[in-house]
Amino acid sequence: MEIITAVKGFKDVFPPETDKWRHIEATATDVFRTFGFGEIRIPLLEKTELFRRGIGESTDIVEKEMYTFVDRSEESLTLRPEATASVIRAYLEHALPGTEPITKLFTIGPMFRRERPQKGRYRQFHQIDVEILGPDDPHTDAELILMLMHFLSRLRIENLTLEINSLGCAQCRPAFREAVIRFLRNGKPEELCADCLRRIGTNPLRVFDCKVQRCGEIISHAPRLTEFLCPPCRDHFVKLQACLNLFEIPFNINEKMVRGLDYYTRTAFEVTTEFLGAQNAILGGGRYDHLVRDLGGPDIPGIGFAIGLERLAALTPDRGKDGEEGPLLFIAALGDRAVEKAFFLCNRLRMKGIRVEVDYTARSLKSQMKRADKLKSSFALIIGEREIDDNRALLRNMRTSTQEEVALDELEHTITKIAR
Ligand code: HAM
Repeated sequence: MEIITAVKGFKDVFPPETDKWRHIEATATDVFRTFGFGEIRIPLLEKTELFRRGIGESTDIVEKEMYTFVDRSEESLTLRPEATASVIRAYLEHALPGTEPITKLFTIGPMFRRERPQKGRYRQFHQIDVEILGPDDPHTDAELILMLMHFLSRLRIENLTLEINSLGCAQCRPAFREAVIRFLRNGKPEELCADCLRRIGTNPLRVFDCKVQRCGEIISHAPRLTEFLCPPCRDHFVKLQACLNLFEIPFNINEKMVRGLDYYTRTAFEVTTEFLGAQNAILGGGRYDHLVRDLGGPDIPGIGFAIGLERLAALTPDRGKDGEEGPLLFIAALGDRAVEKAFFLCNRLRMKGIRVEVDYTARSLKSQMKRADKLKSSFALIIGEREIDDNRALLRNMRTSTQEEVALDELEHTITKIAR
């Protein structure tokens, strides 16, 4: 019979990759807590309407990438393609706006987008998502970016580029949007790709990050949003830059960065690297001052970002020795009575927090020692029938290749002492 394989674009993650993920998640939790964030866990499934309204009808995600289905009670549901809309749904549903002026939350988990799979792009991927709801001053934007860059440096990731832009607000963006539409219509719209041609009428700013070369050339001559920013948006952007400079965080202003979701206002940012090929953005984020209102809540601004965990892990250096340390002890047991002894001892030691491995199938000593080696065990304990009769066992130091005899009935004590 044929085996059943995973769904296309969905992948399994094994050790040591999972160890790296844990390390990344633990570092994130540690850094975010220091900056005052609490963890929220949200469902993977939401009503489709949440993402339609939140992310925007004319975005790629909503138009063509969502895993949407009608469940048995005729309700349209969607596997979440991102976390921001869900965090705000939870924030509103649990009436958090009334309890605190500032809410700082993070969440880590899988997201689902039916994109074309390729290296660094999956249909189920994972995000580390961070959101701040309440304040709208530029210090908050800077603080969030500072925390992010600090987190990346804690992981010892280098050669990253922080790109920032301002997307303006409800006051200044409409004029810019009109100017871009005029520019595209008066140029040679027939030279745009089919998607961009359609976007003129639906979401013209998306043309800025079209990957088709000709579209890129055309849009590079378009008006720039910075020329249209209203004075409060301009001040906000200038202050953000001053705050980043204060902490000597290098950044590029990328006026073409419009982000792929419709909810952004003012600050938008991405961190990119040269090392991931086409999928070079390891994270993206920005301010969304009207999203809470658009999802039926009060007028509360917010800002956040999401890091792609797979992409981040690909850039995180291996942790070397302490990341892949083997067990303290491997017990090689030969014969039924030795296996009984090994079973008891091994699990007693594990309950004391000591990493021990064992092979109950009593294969040859040679193959068991090979296994101890492969697992990078620090010590190997050899127990056979004779050792049990004589109440002794051989403890071998795998690093120095020396061995000593130890009393069987004192083993637990001996190993516990070594572990200290
Ligand atoms: P996004 O730019 O759509 O933003 O995604 C953020 C990051 O998720 C990307 O930079 C990338 O690393 C990762 N990512 C996205 N799609 C895939 C995929 N198919 N395979 C692998 N990784 C992927 C958001 O999702 C916003 N919710 C971010 C945000 C939070 N803005 C404000 N708060």
